[in-house]
Amino acid sequence: MKILVTGAAGFIGSTLCERLLQEESYEVIGLDALIPSSTPVRAREHNLSQLLRHPRFTFIRQDLLKISWESLLPNVDIVYHLAGIPGVRSSWGDDFKTYIMNNIEATQRLLEGCRQYPVKKFIYASTSSVYGEKTGQVNEAAITEPLSPYGVSKLTGEHLCKVYAHNDNIPVVILRFFTVYGPRQRPDMAFHRFITHILHNKPITIYGDGHQTRDFTYVEDCVTAIAAAAAAEGIIGETINIGGKERASVLECISMIEDIFGKKVELRYMGKAFGEPRHTWADISKAQTLLGYEPTTDLCKGMKAEILDICNNPSL
Ligand code: NAD
Ligand code: UGA
Repeated sequence: MKILVTGAAGFIGSTLCERLLQEESYEVIGLDALIPSSTPVRAREHNLSQLLRHPRFTFIRQDLLKISWESLLPNVDIVYHLAGIPGVRSSWGDDFKTYIMNNIEATQRLLEGCRQYPVKKFIYASTSSVYGEKTGQVNEAAITEPLSPYGVSKLTGEHLCKVYAHNDNIPVVILRFFTVYGPRQRPDMAFHRFITHILHNKPITIYGDGHQTRDFTYVEDCVTAIAAAAAAEGIIGETINIGGKERASVLECISMIEDIFGKKVELRYMGKAFGEPRHTWADISKAQTLLGYEPTTDLCKGMKAEILDICNNPSL
């Protein structure tokens, strides 16, 4: 089985490639343009370091907006499309152009490629940000009302997948991840910021009152679900939430980190960030049924793993 993972040098993509390679019958091609962002290129290279030594892994440093498909897609069985520009808070203003290019145009271009060179499954990495403000547990049938330009760009990607599925029978599966954390987490994300700030005795910024909650998903749990989608039957055309084991508020997470470090941190309250829902909470019953998914990592354990990763890699 030949599997293409786009965004292979990213936080989730690199972890997914490592997991897929545990399956001996899988050959993995990782594609990534190593786009500089809040994640420095050296951190993306670090994400790839173990993979590059693996005999069944091939890395292609290319931009989805430029690559020619004939050298890549023939013989690919499954595409995991994780490449894109993530981040809710940075999707406003002129920066939205990069979201349009890398989340919308790049997705459309890849779908065109798969129209020319058919694959058995096209798995699209979507996000809880497509839902917008909801109360309680949200299932996949909920109306999608994104609050941020980022959410709009990812929802447009979903719509493109469905359009190509409808017209060209591209076998699409949409997975919606909920706030993923753990080793290699992007430096713009909450836990990475909180941990580095407490390590360097710098104040932590809280957007809003800190009582907003997230369905935090440990990255190894998330990739368990994503990897299961490769072999799972009967999932073509489905949209599936991938949530975590535990929800918590931002303040609860900070106090957990303080307990682990055994010190208090100064909190600086800012206004609520634009475009963020107050709460996220995934109904994962579909993932349980279709992917046999059961998140197992609680927040404290997952947080400790992320702390260890950051402490072990101070130069990133
Ligand atoms: P990341 O930034 O760590 O990884 C994305 C990778 O895509 C980067 O390495 C980047 O270089 C690459 N990339 C971007 N545009 C490209 C292009 N045009 N051509 C080739 N490579 C390109 O992000 P992440 O947190 O690992 O997120 C991965 C995916 O999951 C994204 O699509 C994101 O929207 C989605 N997602 C992430 C989360 C989360 O909590 N991290 C939650 C929901 C959804
Ligand atoms: C995350 C990812 O960044 C998105 O790519 C992804 O699509 C999204 O999850 C999702 O699930 O859809 P977010 O939930 O904002 O977005 O994740 P974090 O950056 O970890 O933020 C979590 C919470 O911490 C937010 O409420 C945010 O306001 C808060 N926060 C973050 C702070 O209070 N201070 C900070 O310095 C950073």
